[in-house]
Amino acid sequence: MDIIKTLEEELKAVKKQMDYLRSLEPSKRAATGAALNTRKKGIEEKLFSAQKEARVQEVNAKLAADKLVDITAPDLGAKRGHLHPITRVQREVEDVFASMGFIIEEGPEIATEFDNFDAVNVPANHPARDMQDTFWLSNGQVLKTHTSALQNALLRRYGPEFKAIFPGRCFRNEAVDASHENTFFQVEGMMVGKDISIANLIYFMQTALAAVFKKDVKVRLRPSYFPFVEPGFEFDAKCIICENGCSVCKKTGWVELGGCGMIHPNVLRMGGVDPTKYQGFAFGFGLPRLTMLKYGINEIRYFNSGNLEFLRSVK
Ligand code: PHE
Repeated sequence: MDIIKTLEEELKAVKKQMDYLRSLEPSKRAATGAALNTRKKGIEEKLFSAQKEARVQEVNAKLAADKLVDITAPDLGAKRGHLHPITRVQREVEDVFASMGFIIEEGPEIATEFDNFDAVNVPANHPARDMQDTFWLSNGQVLKTHTSALQNALLRRYGPEFKAIFPGRCFRNEAVDASHENTFFQVEGMMVGKDISIANLIYFMQTALAAVFKKDVKVRLRPSYFPFVEPGFEFDAKCIICENGCSVCKKTGWVELGGCGMIHPNVLRMGGVDPTKYQGFAFGFGLPRLTMLKYGINEIRYFNSGNLEFLRSVK
């Protein structure tokens, strides 16, 4: 910069001398004028190249400071994130049921005692309330223990004829082990209408499982008790991992996916649907179980562990 300033000063001085020259007699101008002109040209040339050099330096400094994209830099191998395996399975389940005309709903995680228990035919002081060790809030509400807590709202909103699935996070105050967590995801489904039977349930479940596991899956129903269905069943899928028993199916060859059955008339009635005219099925499955079966994972606690190495390994 300094050299530029000096040259600019010199140029100014020469121009001043040229102005002065104009006031002289023409005969006296010629020789001095030619000398001044040569000098002026010389200064201008030097100034131009100094300015050019300064500009180049300025741009280079800017490029270095801005760290503009350097296409010659090596790939740093940044890792991309991905969805949690349970989320992936949940979306697959949603997609296949949506393709069969089911509405997808989601309820709140805090439920009233009525929605979580009374509305699904679990009367006060009934021992069934203890089946699902509950986190009670100080205002008398609960952290929903099952997705069935949304059944009543859906019956009122869409009844008496509809199909819906509703995934959600559930909470139970229970001892944690390799296949039980206190916080887990379920996906519930309901179909209400005329002439609905367990055969419909089996059809939809088999279709959904085939889509999620990408192969046909054998299923079996075992009679069981849930207050909100009659008859009620445990729903098992043939273990798709092993031939003769592995740690996921606990060497039985079958994996329990959840409960199901025909919706109890009391549940329909409390949802404003006439059980003498309409019936329906309901099922509630654990999404971790489905995910464990799909990916051959034998430890439920990995899912909430925050262990990225595990989560990245589930492909
Ligand atoms: N709500 C039951 C549970 O969490 C599962 C279920 C849903 C069973 C619907 C039958 C019908 O264990």
